[in-house]
Order: sequence, then structure tokens, then C-alpha cells
Amino acid sequence: MYKLRADTPNEWAEYVADNLDEFLPDHAAAERKASANAMHMVVRYSDKLDLVDAMIEVAREELEHYHQVFHLMRERGIALIPDEPDPYVNDLLTHSRQTGGDRMLDRLLLGSIIEFRGCERFAMLGQELARRPGLEELAEFYRELAASESKHRGDFYELALQYFPKDQVEERLYEFLDVEAQIIEELPIRAALH
Ligand SMILES: [Fe+2]
Ligand SMILES: [Fe+2]
Repeated sequence: MYKLRADTPNEWAEYVADNLDEFLPDHAAAERKASANAMHMVVRYSDKLDLVDAMIEVAREELEHYHQVFHLMRERGIALIPDEPDPYVNDLLTHSRQTGGDRMLDRLLLGSIIEFRGCERFAMLGQELARRPGLEELAEFYRELAASESKHRGDFYELALQYFPKDQVEERLYEFLDVEAQIIEELPIRAALH
């Protein structure tokens, strides 16, 4: 497995843990969009049966995450928010090529990188919450999410390797990893997943 090329600063996890009520609606939206994106892949690449199979599973798991976060919000009396653009995801997507196999490869690699970043951030948040009294259960929830996003990271990457030659996958991956690292380094710290 490859590595991301920039680390999320610790201040992000501290800021999010201080502002959970603001963070949760953004997190919920990110899960819903991840589920919708996986189903979009199913529709767009419906002749690729292994991709369809894997993406239905990802869509279902992301929808389950959305449901879990919704329940957390409901318990805390926090409302869902209207859709807001995710600056990190949108910036990454501007680097995707738009046609044919190029588009499919780019979407699989960007999917894997976005999952990887989610995995890194949920794991960090889990660690931060575990240090705070009364939040052990929430800390465990985020540790479990990190494991699930780690699996998704591998699902997208393995599909890229299944449908495209390895040298083509790696060359494009390394370009995206540089782009992603730069976006992360310029991203302001907010009570949001990105
Ligand atoms: Fe998720
Ligand atoms: Fe995921």
C-alpha cells in the first residue's frame, strides 16, 4: 500500500474535538456523499462487474456510517445541515480527467486517496477523543470508522490495479499524491472532515 505525502496537523483533531456539535453535520454529509459517489460509479461503469460489486458494498457501508452519525446527532439534538461544498474534495476533483478510461482511473485513485485521508483523520480524532473524559464511546466509534475507511482505500486502489496497468496506475497515483499533499497543507483548520 502507498503512503500519503502530508500529515494532518494535530491541531485539527484538537479543534474538532472542541467543536463536535459543529463537526458532526459535516461528517454526516461526507458519509452521504461517499455513498452517493460509490453508487454513481455503479451507474457510470455498469459493464465492469467487479467494480459494480465492490462499489455497491462501499455505498452500503457509507450509508451505514451516515445512519450512525445521524443517530449520534439525533441523540445530541443536532440538526442536519443543507448541502455545502467540500473544498478539499472539490479541489481534488478538478484534477480528474473527464473522459473514458482516464476518468475511470482518476476517479478510482482519487476515491482511494480521499478514503485514506478519512482513515487518517478518523484515527487521529479517535485518539484525541480517547483522552477526553466521557467520550470513550465516541472515540471507539471513530476508531471503527477508521478501520472501515482503510478497507475502502484498498477497495478503490485494487480496482484501479485490476482494470489498468500497474505502471500507469502508479504514475498517476504519485501525481495525485503530490496534489493532495499540497491541498492538505493549504487547508484551513475547521470543525469539518476537510
Ligand atoms: Fe465512511
Ligand atoms: Fe469510506
